[in-house]
Amino acid sequence: MAKKVSLINMKGGVGKSTLAVNLAWQFTAMPNWSKKVLVIDLDPQFNATQYLVGQAKVKQILDEGRPTVWDIFEQLTRTPDSKGLKALDLANVINNVVTFRDGSRIDLIPSRLELAYSLMNPGQKEGLLAKFVSKIDDQYDLILLDCAPTESFLTMAAYLTSDYILVPVKPEYLSTIGLPLLVRSMAEFHAHHEDHNLELAGIVFNSTTQYVPEEATSKAEVKAEAKKHGWYVFKAEVSYSRSYPKGAREGKPIFRTSYSRWDQAQKFHSFAKEFADRIGL
Ligand SMILES: Nc1ncnc2c1ncn2[C@@H]1O[C@H](COP(=O)(O)OP(=O)(O)OP(=O)(O)O)[C@@H](O)[C@H]1O
Ligand SMILES: [Mg+2]
Repeated sequence: MAKKVSLINMKGGVGKSTLAVNLAWQFTAMPNWSKKVLVIDLDPQFNATQYLVGQAKVKQILDEGRPTVWDIFEQLTRTPDSKGLKALDLANVINNVVTFRDGSRIDLIPSRLELAYSLMNPGQKEGLLAKFVSKIDDQYDLILLDCAPTESFLTMAAYLTSDYILVPVKPEYLSTIGLPLLVRSMAEFHAHHEDHNLELAGIVFNSTTQYVPEEATSKAEVKAEAKKHGWYVFKAEVSYSRSYPKGAREGKPIFRTSYSRWDQAQKFHSFAKEFADRIGL
């Protein structure tokens, strides 16, 4: 069964999507990993989808009316057409991004803006994703869920689907803002689902530079908060590099982005290794 990990932080713009996509590439394209990775985009902003398949493919998915994660949540609320309710076409909701010769691959369950409408009418939908994933998770080694920065039934859906949570944090003023919200939301989840084993893989500092004084202060604050809750903080950090946004534009991971520096890719690699160790990948 796949290890299932949600990238969550209630603070926005901390690198959830960037890390999800780069981790997916790391465990597939890099030698010696040979993993099968599924990325599930759980954000109506669908950044991970755009990053992984690009604008043209996104348009194609939408134009062809192909299913997305939205259809997983709305499978029971669709208006029956003349042929009755169509069963969700499982094969079509999963898009192959890249397959390598050794069999490793990245697949994607894309998102779309309409997922925001599901938020207005959450109903009893949070369990549907876990149910769907339970049918396919033996086909993967790792499933990464890229979450939106706000608490909603989608967060619950992510928890219900996951074994672990990975929390990227940008060490800057207000960096601790999402953490109390995360504590509360996980506590609420555990209160309702005592039998579901959901662990924190850890907090990873993203966009670090080492020379901004504010960074050290913020890291100390986050570490103090982490200590309070017994949370693991990754020793490896993902450093600031213009290659990350550039890679998003090019649809490439840090180690394939044009003119990206080798040491930057190496730093990400160290983090990926530590992450793999933490979750037993
Ligand atoms: N290590 C990094 N160095 C430089 N830029 C980065 C780094 N990590 C992420 N970024 C950039 O920061 C911005 C926010 O990153 P990203 O979209 O991954 O965050 P997010 O947490 O998924 O945001 P949201 O909460 O909106 O989903 C993007 O433009 C991304 O390219
Ligand atoms: Mg994102």
